[in-house]
Amino acid sequence: ARKIIIDTDPGKDDAVAILLALASPELEVLALTAVAGNVPLARTEGNARRLLELAGRPDIPVYGGCARPLVRPPVTAEHVHGDTGLQGLILPEPSVPARPEHAVDMLVGILRGAAAGEITLCLLGPATNLALALVKAPDIASRIAEVIWMAGARSEGGNVTPAAEYNVHADPDAAEVLLNSGIALTLLPLDLTHQVRLTRERLTRLRSIDAAAARAVARMFSDADGSPQREREQEGIPLHDPCVIAHLLRPGLFVGRRINVAVEIVSPLSLGMTVADWFGVTGREPNATWLNQADAEGFFDLLLERLARLP
Ligand code: BDR
Ligand code: CA
Repeated sequence: ARKIIIDTDPGKDDAVAILLALASPELEVLALTAVAGNVPLARTEGNARRLLELAGRPDIPVYGGCARPLVRPPVTAEHVHGDTGLQGLILPEPSVPARPEHAVDMLVGILRGAAAGEITLCLLGPATNLALALVKAPDIASRIAEVIWMAGARSEGGNVTPAAEYNVHADPDAAEVLLNSGIALTLLPLDLTHQVRLTRERLTRLRSIDAAAARAVARMFSDADGSPQREREQEGIPLHDPCVIAHLLRPGLFVGRRINVAVEIVSPLSLGMTVADWFGVTGREPNATWLNQADAEGFFDLLLERLARLP
């Protein structure tokens, strides 16, 4: 099995990503690291533990990480995820505590102890934890197999400002550290994740699965009348973060190109914008694989098949 660490700010779509990973025998989840993002760190860290218990995997360790972005004030997204981060879902207080070690120190330690290329990092939130680990211990860059990050936007424009996607906007300085790190990096931007939508029809399929985890996911994304939340007028709710895990399981579901990506960290108007050189006009070396096409049907077939395997 491929060894992964999931760095996350759950977050409703983060929750789906975590459950998908736990349901997949091709992956060995070594740890979850929590970061401040959609909701403050205390919630994201607690939600990570709640989700592990829901999936029957309280043995997987959870480490709390950075409580705020590297440089700027926190930006949360309660309007999307609710005050708890998992709106619609009421999960019991977790029985297993978080590990005492800080996520950044754990990352440095585990990467230094592993063979080069042994561990893949899945980033589902702002990149603060990994960026700080890279600042603290630059030698870990060469030990990471790959970083797969739900981040950025080009053709779609932003979802938090007209220019920027949330995970980059929330900590653009961390994004810059990561983009300049030389680590093999795959980005799943809004260009891609906006194609992967939980529609009314897919929600109905999800509801027919007789498993607690599947029911929990259905509840998080349903209105009282059973329609997909918020996006009723549109084509369904985008499931951003689970695409990261699906990419590991079925790389053929997504298509993209190796390009250079830079991030705006100065302009107030376009802070956190990913300047993605799709046509290679800058002459700058590619530093990321930018995925921008998804097989949404294939994704949902995989997701529903896997959620049905959980308790
Ligand atoms: C990203 O922002 C968060 O709100 C989601 O969990 C996802 O990681 C989408 O822009
Ligand atoms: Ca997230």
